[in-house]
Amino acid sequence: MTDGPSTLSTFAELGLPTPLVSALERRGITAPFPIQVACVPDAIAGRDVLGRGQTGSGKTLAFGLPLLAGLAGEQAAPTRPRALILVPTRELAMQVQDALGPLGRSLGLHTKIVVGGMSMSKQIQALRRGVDVLVATPGRLTDLIERGECSLADVRITVLDEADHMCDLGFLPAVSRLLDQIPGDGQRLLFSATLDGDVDKLVRRYLHDPVTHSIAPAAAPVETMDHHLFIVDRADKQDVIAEVAGREGRTIMFVRTKHGVDALAKKLARVGVRAGALHGGKTQAARTRTLAEFREGKVGVLIATDVAARGIHVDDVSLVVHVDPAADHKDYLHRAGRTARAGERGTVATLVAHNEVRNTERMMRRAGVRALRSKVTAGDDALVRITGAQPPSGIPVPPEPEPRAPRRGPRPGGRRDRRPGGRFEGRGEARQDGRFDGEHRSGRPAERREGRPEHRDGERRDTHRPRREPRSGGAPGGSRPGGRAGAVRHDDRRPRPEAAR
Ligand SMILES: Nc1ncnc2c1ncn2[C@@H]1O[C@H](COP(=O)(O)OP(=O)(O)OP(=O)(O)O)[C@@H](O)[C@H]1O
Ligand SMILES: [Mg+2]
Repeated sequence: MTDGPSTLSTFAELGLPTPLVSALERRGITAPFPIQVACVPDAIAGRDVLGRGQTGSGKTLAFGLPLLAGLAGEQAAPTRPRALILVPTRELAMQVQDALGPLGRSLGLHTKIVVGGMSMSKQIQALRRGVDVLVATPGRLTDLIERGECSLADVRITVLDEADHMCDLGFLPAVSRLLDQIPGDGQRLLFSATLDGDVDKLVRRYLHDPVTHSIAPAAAPVETMDHHLFIVDRADKQDVIAEVAGREGRTIMFVRTKHGVDALAKKLARVGVRAGALHGGKTQAARTRTLAEFREGKVGVLIATDVAARGIHVDDVSLVVHVDPAADHKDYLHRAGRTARAGERGTVATLVAHNEVRNTERMMRRAGVRALRSKVTAGDDALVRITGAQPPSGIPVPPEPEPRAPRRGPRPGGRRDRRPGGRFEGRGEARQDGRFDGEHRSGRPAERREGRPEHRDGERRDTHRPRREPRSGGAPGGSRPGGRAGAVRHDDRRPRPEAAR
């Protein structure tokens, strides 16, 4: 096990082939980040790597570059990819494909994503043509393998990105079944900003003598990130949110449930703020468009569930707001990590009522974060100074039509369940109700087949209750007025019925 970066300081010195270095330069990426300096040489040497680097520290290239370098010079046989990158959400799969696809082309390598909610026949056609690097979510990949359209027998390099999250989502059995189909002498790279929980099982079972690169302690705050705890009266909360949403600059607001996301987007629209709403209950076309509009700056505010908390990179997000507190310190770190990426500065604000302060601060301590506490009301100085809040125009924004699902050709393999919105979801992916489609075919509840049903595609179902943070001192259990000690009362956090004014 080694920790910390070595002294190598250019991509060429890390052992990467010249076309790849040139392709990086064309994208303005000229010097490796510390996690890349640490991981790339070992991964190129064929070692299994366990990589933990803070959010925004450049892990995608830390695993992606050695993976591409390792595949150069050969081509995949039809339906037999040579490398597999498994990720928990479709958005992350698309992003990894965007980051690595063009770089792979510089070496003559074909990359393809395989995720639910997108045309399966196109994925099959691509696989038949030959795919070197497959970026996949576990459900759709399992489906394609069961149809005989993909074999993992030629996979030499496997990456698990956000490995702990895939385990948290209940994907461990599905991931294990996939890894069992990959030749045991292949290379495995496992990356996340937080590595804990069931990841250990994966590591012990599938990694051989891994070298661990952890470029900062587990709970080290990102230095360029400022954290604030805003104590808000419940009566004021909607007005405070509306003013924060009215700020200049890109803002992501995290809300616990899909319903909460939609409700907040509507309220903001009524007071003049057009905000994108992103959650697992939307069609993939809507999800993709919303994220694209946010990336392109057509909307300045993205309201999302935790489906957007892992791995998603959008340039210049200057503020992350926890409208509902994160379920635990890990989720806090990943949500917060959508700002202050790649050395940029960023601010993270958590809105809490008075009686939630203690539990939220306990969670932040576990995340290694010290937040400045302020009591804020709409329009007050601290809110304006810290977030740039300003009153929205008050002129309602007309609702955006949902994008229609693209026309589909005949499905390969016959009739399958349809999602609301006309989209097919392969087994293992989230449907509108958060359950597996496979459940209908097998007649067995998803939780018995795959683990906890509420954890699908990067987010929890609306019925989810936050995990309780272990107590670390403070008042003895049960002494908190107005509720159970140690629990954040989320039912009090629902947006109030009256719209933000
Ligand atoms: N060496 C580099 N030079 C300049 N920019 C880089 C470099 N490496 C990565 N980046 C950029 O930094 C940003 C963050 O990288 P990336 O998404 O890989 O972070 P991450 O560590 O995977 O974060 P998370 O834990 O949130 O998934 C991306 O925009 C990426 O293009
Ligand atoms: Mg990442």
